Amino acid sequence: MPFNGSKGESSRSMMKVMLVGDPGDQRSQLKTVLAALAEPQLEIVEGEAATAANLSENVSAPPDATLVMVNGNEEAALVFLQRQSLHSPRPTLLALLSARSAGLMKRALRAGADEILFMPLDPGEATRALLKVSEARWRTERREGGVVISVASLVGGVGVTSMAANLALALESLHQHVALVDLDLQTGGLAVFLNLDPEVTIMPLVRLEQKLDSIQLESALTKHPSGVCLLAAPKRIEEGELVSDITVGTVLDLIRQLFDYVIVDCGDHVDENGVAAWERSEHLFYVLNQSIAAARSAWRFIDLFERLGLTRLEPHFILDRYNPSHPLTEKAIEATLAKSIYARIPADDRTFETIELKAQDLFQVAPHSPVARAMLDLAALVMPRVEPLALQETFMSRLKSAFGTH
Ligand SMILES: Nc1ncnc2c1ncn2[C@@H]1O[C@H](COP(=O)(O)OP(=O)(O)OP(=O)(O)O)[C@@H](O)[C@H]1O
Ligand SMILES: [Mg+2]
Repeated sequence: MPFNGSKGESSRSMMKVMLVGDPGDQRSQLKTVLAALAEPQLEIVEGEAATAANLSENVSAPPDATLVMVNGNEEAALVFLQRQSLHSPRPTLLALLSARSAGLMKRALRAGADEILFMPLDPGEATRALLKVSEARWRTERREGGVVISVASLVGGVGVTSMAANLALALESLHQHVALVDLDLQTGGLAVFLNLDPEVTIMPLVRLEQKLDSIQLESALTKHPSGVCLLAAPKRIEEGELVSDITVGTVLDLIRQLFDYVIVDCGDHVDENGVAAWERSEHLFYVLNQSIAAARSAWRFIDLFERLGLTRLEPHFILDRYNPSHPLTEKAIEATLAKSIYARIPADDRTFETIELKAQDLFQVAPHSPVARAMLDLAALVMPRVEPLALQETFMSRLKSAFGTH
């Protein structure tokens, strides 16, 4: 499969800006500076203060940010800012001032500017201000759904599938509604690990001609007794080729609307499907163990990840089968990677063997084991802090049950 990791990211980070000011040298210079910015990528629309108000209403998609030049006709620019600031929803308003005067700054801010920049526009300053806008917009978009967590590695057999499944079980045991997506399309290890025999897989979603809806998506899921829902990998190895990054993107955008957490097993290699998942992930867990091969691969992964330019996501490194007396210490691995280890899952062959032999899950087999505790700790790390109200309720219900009034 051809692999161009930055494709989806760039299309997601495209930001629409409107440049408002009198036509002339200054406006063309500003446009040149904005067009040359590497990040965020901008679609630039231009207009004059007198007519831009109509323009911003008539364009098909409203701008994310409007840059207003406050130079020649200050009055017109400030009136424009003021009118725009009354709109709801409105773009972020950036005033571009021709002089660094405190009076002018105050007038622009009072007229409704969210941010002040100066002309001639410094590319670094412009990048900073516009990235702030694009990051805020991205966070708002994301908040609409559940949290997506990708689990990945570049070496096989280090525990990606068990980590994804056990994290899902841990979150479910904490009363979260959790989906697992198996993107290790050839191996399909999640169904095996969870002892499920799915009748349905991701395949009907690949073949869909019309827009995917939640009924179709729900009918492709297999429910585990714990409540975790699995979107299983195809039954036949060759079918995996038909699953594209577009399917992955569509599925994740919709599945996150239905669940609190979506955990994606990305397998042990990087491809476009994995990157489509990472682009939508709040967390990316890279799994490694205490071996030179795994540490080297993690290092290669860091290099690759940096080149992908997914600036909004920071991979976290998790040591599975952790053994504190192993000669390759956690500190040595951290020094090699120049990254800290985010979490450790202790080695526990007995528990994992029992899971397999009894065909039961971790929280049935050994709910109080160090592995189960480590998974619950990891779950707690990705859960937002409990609201004070919820805490109070928990406290009150404990109190009531202690006094037998429940
Ligand atoms: N903390 C642990 N302690 C003991 N055994 C473990 C631990 N974590 C995983 N294992 C075992 O290691 C084996 C590999 O785990 P798993 O299948 O999760 O790895 P993977 O990275 O998904 O492998 P693959 O590359 O084949 O998909 C399994 O038999 C699993 O039970
Ligand atoms: Mg696996």
